[in-house]
Amino acid sequence: MKAHLITYGCQMNEYDTHLVESQLVSFGADIVPSVDEADFVLINTCAVRGKPVDKVRSLLGDLRKQKAQRPLVVGMMGCLAQLEEGQQIARKFEVDVLLGPGSLLDIGQALEANERFWGLQFKDELHGHIPPPPQGKLQAHLTIMRGCDHHCTYCIVPTTRGPQVSRHPDDILRELDMQLSAGVQEVTLLGQNVNAYGVDQGAKLAGYPSFADLLRLVGRSGVRRIKFTTSHPMNFTEDVAAAMAETPAVCEYVHLPVQSGSSRVLRRMAREYTREKYLGHIAEIKKHLPDVVLATDIIVGFPGETEEDFAETLSLYDEVGYDSAYMFIYSARPGTPSYRHFADLPRELKTERLQRLIVKQKEWSARKNAAKVGTVQEVLLRGEAHESGFLEGHTRGNHPTVVPKAVGASGPGVYRARIEHATPHMLYGRLIGADGQDLPELPRFNPEAAALSHPLQMV
Ligand code: 5AD
Ligand code: SF4
Repeated sequence: MKAHLITYGCQMNEYDTHLVESQLVSFGADIVPSVDEADFVLINTCAVRGKPVDKVRSLLGDLRKQKAQRPLVVGMMGCLAQLEEGQQIARKFEVDVLLGPGSLLDIGQALEANERFWGLQFKDELHGHIPPPPQGKLQAHLTIMRGCDHHCTYCIVPTTRGPQVSRHPDDILRELDMQLSAGVQEVTLLGQNVNAYGVDQGAKLAGYPSFADLLRLVGRSGVRRIKFTTSHPMNFTEDVAAAMAETPAVCEYVHLPVQSGSSRVLRRMAREYTREKYLGHIAEIKKHLPDVVLATDIIVGFPGETEEDFAETLSLYDEVGYDSAYMFIYSARPGTPSYRHFADLPRELKTERLQRLIVKQKEWSARKNAAKVGTVQEVLLRGEAHESGFLEGHTRGNHPTVVPKAVGASGPGVYRARIEHATPHMLYGRLIGADGQDLPELPRFNPEAAALSHPLQMV
């Protein structure tokens, strides 16, 4: 069998795609890089906003046409698969395999079934399952918990991913160990709300560590860099900031979604904190980590958001000074309380507010990136950049970075770079050695110069 997987949504979905891919390989499948080469296409879906759902719908339409012309099995997994909305789409487009986020390990059964197979249960075995580490990668994701026990009124995730379950720390450390043996240098601990690790009933009874202590444990594994995402401000304790500060491998990067700067809107979102409480968390984080890089998620145009509410979001942005932000227009999702109870704002109003927020975000990203010029940053270089002769990667604070290849640094690895230039989206640097001196750059291939100097080109 030749299988091709397509992933929408968050890093948790990327992790799950890898998990299912590795299962498929162990059942004898070949993972192929395009739909055309595949006889099994599996889409890992996202349900958090309307847009990714529309994309899946149109992709399934194309696949249904292809099914009429050649033998092709079509599957849908992930968040949308768990919803009635997704199941209706699956029926309409004749999807053969449907796996909810808690039933991913049913993939083997689904392949054997030889008829339509739908798996929608939340199964415990998933939490103990350890997928093999990714091949040849310096970065890896590591799920530490699944599901969410909060009930933000706009969010479909508690329905799609179910209640929170923390993974056993031994399983987490075993998976990490395998990743380290495979050469991983940066691990991102994943969960819908990683700060709440260990607080679900099962974890409490079993005496799992708190998230802060898990960070300390992971820090002792020898991994070079640790990141985590995502955090709910309600569960962000000062001990997490303290653990970050005392664990050198934990990167000085915190993604703490605020969603809105207005306490009135936050209350209607059922976020369980106020603007002041959120700013208190930020102050604690900055106290422990003065150079912290801060990122957030913001929803604009939540039902009932007034101009004053939105102005509070803009002023909170200034007060915190985020390096980056993921910004979304509110999307009314069937099945959520805000969809059922609150009237949506006009599209133009939401779009106009998003544009104003993007201006704010660009100003801050430009300012924050410009402040990095002249500093030395540790960069994890993933591989070739778009432009030949350059490598691309990111800093400990997740800033995308580009550097010219240098002697001793012509491929992936973790290096130090002096930042020489910055745009709001990118840092440009030069690699330096242990002595702080520039590493000699490798000569770059210049096609124009090569054409001129090549005798055969002279016509
Ligand atoms: N509309 C818009 N954005 C949403 N998010 C979650 N639900 C919605 C929605 N209904 C955003 C939040 C969350 C991120 C993953 O997606 O900002 O943090
Ligand atoms: Fe989308 Fe949320 Fe599911 Fe991730 S967990 S795929 S963001 S709905």
